[in-house]
Amino acid sequence: MNQLKLQKLQVTNFRNLQSDVVNFSPGINCIFGKNGNGKTNLLEALFYLIHRKSFRKNTGFPQFLSLDGENPEVVINSLFSDIQADEKISFTGKIERNGPQWSLNGKTTKKKLSVETIFINPFDSYSFHQQASERRAWVDHHLAVLNLEYKKNLSKFNQVLRLRNTLLSKRPTGFKDQILALDEQFALYSESIVKFREAFISELNPFCFHSFQEVFSEEHLLKITMKSSFAKQNREQIRDFYAKNIAKDEAIGHTHYGIHRDDFIMLFDEKNAFEFCSLGQQKMAYLSLIFAYIELFRYKFKAYPIVLIDDVSGELDSQRWSKLVEYLNKQNFQVLITTANEGFRDELERLANIQQIMVTGGHFQIVQ
Ligand SMILES: Nc1ncnc2c1ncn2[C@@H]1O[C@H](COP(=O)(O)OP(=O)(O)OP(=O)(O)O)[C@@H](O)[C@H]1O
Ligand SMILES: [Mg+2]
Repeated sequence: MNQLKLQKLQVTNFRNLQSDVVNFSPGINCIFGKNGNGKTNLLEALFYLIHRKSFRKNTGFPQFLSLDGENPEVVINSLFSDIQADEKISFTGKIERNGPQWSLNGKTTKKKLSVETIFINPFDSYSFHQQASERRAWVDHHLAVLNLEYKKNLSKFNQVLRLRNTLLSKRPTGFKDQILALDEQFALYSESIVKFREAFISELNPFCFHSFQEVFSEEHLLKITMKSSFAKQNREQIRDFYAKNIAKDEAIGHTHYGIHRDDFIMLFDEKNAFEFCSLGQQKMAYLSLIFAYIELFRYKFKAYPIVLIDDVSGELDSQRWSKLVEYLNKQNFQVLITTANEGFRDELERLANIQQIMVTGGHFQIVQ
């Protein structure tokens, strides 16, 4: 993966955005403006161009096509610079009701742009700490980016799980024998997934500890731990467990136990962060975990993702704002950070090389 940095973005007919060409610096870009002016929309357009989906749930073309545009077509034009290859890359998406079309340097392509983004928004910290399913989804998504074998095995595991659950709920003739046969694969994927998750957690933890200390200068121990259904068990033990417990699964009509229920708890000085920490501390823990992941990402791919931060200043005090800003300033990754908070913006404004982009009614203006 090469190190790409966004240089320009021009978005037409996307929500309230006007077709201004927005220039970005390779370091920190602060996108500021009052509520409802288009800050998050800009991040969403860029995210869509790279990932071909929105970070907002249940959102696609019908939602983001501008209500005011004349053409029923969204166009997202971008220019990236490839730092290693010393090249410019233009990438365009044209999205219509019957689908999108992508082009790379003017030529139609089906391939995605080879750049990763990390999107951080204020709500993610709450849902991450509150729900095991969110933590699982976080680990699965981020680990799949780093490890294609994990991605493949997880998708196969989920296929088998769906089939297993269908057999348990519909109970066709001979379903028990079918489940026993299926459990060979189920155990195989379970064993492999647990190993990958354990390795991921232990790789992440040293970075997690450091990023927490570095970003927030906190003298606390922060780490993430894994509570797995099948820690240190091999495929035979897992298969035998399912064989012994099939009556319970049958009674409730689905697979009651397994790695699809694994959890990942953040520990703050060895205490459960969700039960013990304030909202601000939970947010610091969550951000530190993400920054740890960014370091791990760089370690694996020798490139950084582009980091999109949708106003995270809430709950953090001004001392933490300045620590966070100082930390971002020391990093080599490109950051697009939005804020409606003037205090936080003042904190960012102190940095020498910051690009300030003001958004008013979907228009963008660079502030010198
Ligand atoms: N399809 C659409 N067409 C036109 N305008 C839209 C469309 N969808 C959303 N909008 C408008 O886009 C505006 C900007 O939304 P956005 O989420 O980017 O605001 P923001 O600057 O991030 O605000 P906040 O600080 O509150 O997060 C909203 O006022 C919304 O009404
Ligand atoms: Mg917003």
